[in-house]
Parts: sequence; structure tokens; C-alpha cells
Amino acid sequence: MEAGERIERALELAVQRTEADNAPPKLRGAIRHGVFPGGARVRPRLTLAVAQACGDDMPGMAEAAAAAIELLHCASLVHDDLPIFDDADTRRGRPSVHAIYSVPVALLAGDALIVLAFETLARAGAEAPSRLVPLISTIGRAVGAPYGITAGQAWESEINPPAEQYRCAKTGALFVAATTCGAIAAGADPTPWRKLGHRLGEAYQVADDLLDAVSSADLHGKPVGRDLALGRPNAVAELGLTGAVERLEMLIREAVDAVPPSKGEDELRELVRLQALRLAPKRLLQSAA
Ligand code: IPE
Ligand code: IPE
Ligand code: MG
Ligand code: MG
Repeated sequence: MEAGERIERALELAVQRTEADNAPPKLRGAIRHGVFPGGARVRPRLTLAVAQACGDDMPGMAEAAAAAIELLHCASLVHDDLPIFDDADTRRGRPSVHAIYSVPVALLAGDALIVLAFETLARAGAEAPSRLVPLISTIGRAVGAPYGITAGQAWESEINPPAEQYRCAKTGALFVAATTCGAIAAGADPTPWRKLGHRLGEAYQVADDLLDAVSSADLHGKPVGRDLALGRPNAVAELGLTGAVERLEMLIREAVDAVPPSKGEDELRELVRLQALRLAPKRLLQSAA
């Protein structure tokens, strides 16, 4: 089965577990709206690609790790769009969760997605507890404090947050989890996969910052200009347009070079290149530069 199908199937099975007949209807709708239809699913694609490069001897475990990471990413977006954070009414070209289901329900849907992620891991992990334990701690580190998404979002409440640390916590950490968990799920050493996740994650946030500064809401599927309006750290504000483009290009090169020798490494490099460029099409970068 193709990676995209494996990911959608694993997410569908997970989300269905929140949809019993007696579930509160708005919460149920909000959880589904936060996950489907997805965006690029870049993080779970990475997880499956790394698992494949490491032999993928327990596909169910790799799919659970991929789904857990994507559920946490979706949760972070539901919370990020709330009026108390970025106050964004659209996401992925559609109304954001709170715009349809209300702020309280969106907050709870984000919470439910976080719990669902760990539940999904636990169910698959019964098969191999020795892999489950490092998966839980790696993913927990990527979303909690002091290194994960929670800390990343919290840096926005500080004056002059350290730019690189902010980007790494907000975005990089989950990319590191995406690559390393692919290895762990396949019973391999995660260490060689850290650098790839780190560089790609930072590249992704720099690309997102660039698009926030120079793209349009129609192209982007979510509001633009939010970073400037809200005084958020943004790579363009920090480095200038040309500097941000140069930084992005450097990070993409470093990410491609960070793919360790492995089965199918050429395909993995191509996936990294394509995914890194997806957020920042060449045309846009050229006009920005
Ligand atoms: C958006 O991530 C937030 C960032 C960390 C840049 P994605 O661009 O991966 O979002 P979706 O899931 O594809 O919509
Ligand atoms: C997204 O940060 C990273 C999260 C942890 C949610 P942004 O606020 O920069 O992402 P977008 O632009 O809303 O997707
Ligand atoms: Mg934000
Ligand atoms: Mg935002």
C-alpha cells in the first residue's frame, strides 16, 4: 500500500475511536474537521519513509507512530488558530475548527487529539513494548516542555525570544520525532536520523515564515501577515527577505545531505527535497529574492 493511503487509513481508524454514538456531536465534528482533509501530511510521510529505509519490519508500529505524530500536529494547529494565539479563521483553505465549532469546543478537540495520539501509540505498542517506550518519550519530548511545541508556543509570550530555539521547539522538534520515530518503530537506532529532522524542521518553519511575509491567503490556505501583525518572531523580520531565502536554501541542502546511508536513500533524498520545496515554490522564492 502507498504511504499516503497507509497514513489516511491509520488516521481514520484513530479518529473513528472518538466517534461513538454517545459522543458529543460538536466535539466529534471538531475532531474530524481538525484532521480531515489533511494538508501535506509531511511529518507522517517522513516517519514511514524512514521506517522503510530501516526495514519496516513492524508496519503497524510505524503507522501508529506516523498517525500519532500527525494527530499531534493537527492538535497544535487547532490550538494555534484560536483567538488567544494566532486568531486565524481559516486553515487548509477552509474555516478553522473554532470558526465552525466555537472556541471551547476547538480547545477540547485539540486536547482530545493529543490524548488520542498517545492512545493510538499504546494500542499498537502492545506488540512491541521495547519500541513503545522510546516512541512515547521521543514524541512526548517533541510536543511538551522544555523542547517541544508547548515551549515553542510559550516563547511567543516572552520578549525577544531566541529565534532559532523558538523555531526548533515550535516546529523542528516534531520533525525530529518524525524521522527518529520511523527508525525506532522499525527497531533501528534513531541517532543517525536526528539531523535530517532538525534541518528539515527548521527549513519548514523558515519557509512558512517566508510565505507568511510574501504569499497570499488564497495560495496559502490560511491568513498571511499574521507574524508581523502579532509581533511574532519571523525569519524574514530577523534576516530580511534575501537572508531568509538563503537560510532556507542552506537548510534544505543540509537536510538532503543529512540523509544517512540506507536502503533507498536516493528516494528519501528526493522526498526531502520535494517536501522542503513544497512550502516555498521556486517561483515564489525567485520573486521574493
Ligand atoms: C504548518 O505546517 C505549520 C508549520 C509548522 C509550518 P504544515 O504546512 O505541515 O501544515 P499542513 O498539515 O500541511 O496543513
Ligand atoms: C505553527 O506555527 C507551529 C505550531 C506549533 C502550531 P505558525 O503559527 O507559524 O504556523 P501557521 O502559519 O499558523 O501554520
Ligand atoms: Mg503560531
Ligand atoms: Mg499560526
